[in-house]
Amino acid sequence: MPAMSRYPFPSQPAGWFGLALSDELPAGEVITREAFGQEIVLFRDEAGNARALDPFCPHLGAHLGHGGTVVGDSIKCPFHGFQFNGQGKCVAIGTSGKIPPRAELRSWEVREVDGIVIVWHHPTGEPPSFEIPSYHQEGWTDLMWHTWGRLKAHPQETSENSVDLAHFKHVHGYEDVAIVKPIEIDDATLRISYSMKRDLSSLGMVGQFVESVFNVRVHGLGYSVVEVDVATFNTETRTYVICTPLNDDEVILRGGATMKKMANEQMTEQISKLVFDGFVADVEQDFAIWENKAYLTRPVLSEGDGPIGAYRKYCRQFYPQQDAAE
Ligand code: FES
Ligand SMILES: [Fe+2]
Repeated sequence: MPAMSRYPFPSQPAGWFGLALSDELPAGEVITREAFGQEIVLFRDEAGNARALDPFCPHLGAHLGHGGTVVGDSIKCPFHGFQFNGQGKCVAIGTSGKIPPRAELRSWEVREVDGIVIVWHHPTGEPPSFEIPSYHQEGWTDLMWHTWGRLKAHPQETSENSVDLAHFKHVHGYEDVAIVKPIEIDDATLRISYSMKRDLSSLGMVGQFVESVFNVRVHGLGYSVVEVDVATFNTETRTYVICTPLNDDEVILRGGATMKKMANEQMTEQISKLVFDGFVADVEQDFAIWENKAYLTRPVLSEGDGPIGAYRKYCRQFYPQQDAAE
């Protein structure tokens, strides 16, 4: 008997999912990433656009991520020299004769937004139905990123954190969590704003609290951004959580943080470092819960919980394969 799935929904939803940080993909290089139970090779074309292709050459099966090279706008197979462009079309062959008509590779829709290379994944192969907006602006610090590899979790579960208001106190140590703007669902985008207070005694500031407003923007289950206004310090920060399924059981998480620059450069550097370290530590506080929890279809909710039900309804649009099966 096959093992029971941990979740009552598919492990690989539709949406945009991160494959690499922009810096991890320099021009002229071919890199391989794992996602959705397979490998995907990435390279940049001559214009610098990131491209993503299935890895196995249709000629005789060589893996383009092992010895493949970038030639102009295409990637050249290390085995016999077939060349494929960013659309997966074979544009040249190393041997004599015509290009075989079936010499083609599956290509993935790629975008590069705010320093991360994302691809569109759809379980039944539909084209992108929404886009991810850029949030990064002039006057903000360069995004700092951290990658956490192989967690036993699901993108729906990691994103549920954004609306799970009760956990902020118990897992992260915030106080007085209050909704500022209720949940709002606009097709693939979910927004909610809440305020919280945090005790600063761990930073040696006993009896002091910092008060922040968190403006959450979820763009599908793989991509969320939180804009945080910290009134106490008069700072604005923004954090990203990008979650990608590696296979049916595991995900990789990438977290980014940036801050609006202050007049004082040194202060900006110090505070943005604090913000980043704090953010990384906060995300890690959730891991033990995510990796070991059960998903409950009928959770016993109480008044202080956030809009878990509305969030789960929002999630359904990213499982077209489930709708098809119903
Ligand atoms: S296997 Fe790629 S060119 Fe032959
Ligand atoms: Fe959390």
